[in-house]
Amino acid sequence: MAAYAVQTNVLKPVLRQAVVSDAGIIARVHTESWRSSYRGMLSDDYLDGGIVEERQPYWQKTLNAPQPERRHVLVAEKDKVLIAFVSVFLDEEPQYGALLHNLHVLPTWKGQGVGRLLVSEAARWTLLQDVKQMHLWVFKVNHEARKFYDALEGKIVEEKLQTVAGNVERNLLCYLWTDLNFLANLKEKR
Ligand SMILES: CC(C)(COP(=O)(O)OP(=O)(O)OC[C@H]1O[C@@H](n2cnc3c(N)ncnc32)[C@H](O)[C@@H]1OP(=O)(O)O)[C@@H](O)C(=O)NCCC(=O)NCCS
Repeated sequence: MAAYAVQTNVLKPVLRQAVVSDAGIIARVHTESWRSSYRGMLSDDYLDGGIVEERQPYWQKTLNAPQPERRHVLVAEKDKVLIAFVSVFLDEEPQYGALLHNLHVLPTWKGQGVGRLLVSEAARWTLLQDVKQMHLWVFKVNHEARKFYDALEGKIVEEKLQTVAGNVERNLLCYLWTDLNFLANLKEKR
């Protein structure tokens, strides 16, 4: 298998692989993104509750889990401040290839190409693991994210009703990419 090193560009946010000590800051960015973007998708009670306290152990466990070569957590930093992150899991739903999970860009950084940069790097890593497809699940009513995935030419292949954070049922759509070279070679914005 080919050696992997994160590809980055000094004028862009710096991308790097997350380490266990990032769990706290990822949990805080995750919480801020949910509170800003998921109003109306998750319940107000849940969004106004102790999300950081729940997310921190989730990220600690994820970053500490066995077989680190089967997952990839990437963070984007600007001036050493974490502004976005994404994770990829190779073994969650292998029928659709790698699972892209928890892509979040801080509200003030949206629309500046950071999401595209992370997805592109995630695809590049996935290809290097010899996995040829990638998918994700998104709330059907998350129109902003769906426009992003549509722009990246993902195809909807499945819909399901699932119990999600805060113990509510929501419709989710599965987006699939069968040409990871397209994603891996996306041009960075600006
Ligand atoms: C969805 C998300 C990750 C996109 O990241 P981003 O950095 O804002 O997106 P980018 O700037 O890289 O956008 C890339 C392209 O997607 C499209 N796009 C992104 N956001 C869009 C929007 N709100 N409306 C229309 N098109 C959009 C555009 O075509 C854009 O390219 P362009 O600016 O050159 O036209 C980000 O908005 C986010 O974190 N949202 C909240 C959390 C979330 O919903 N995550 C998804 C979970 S499944």
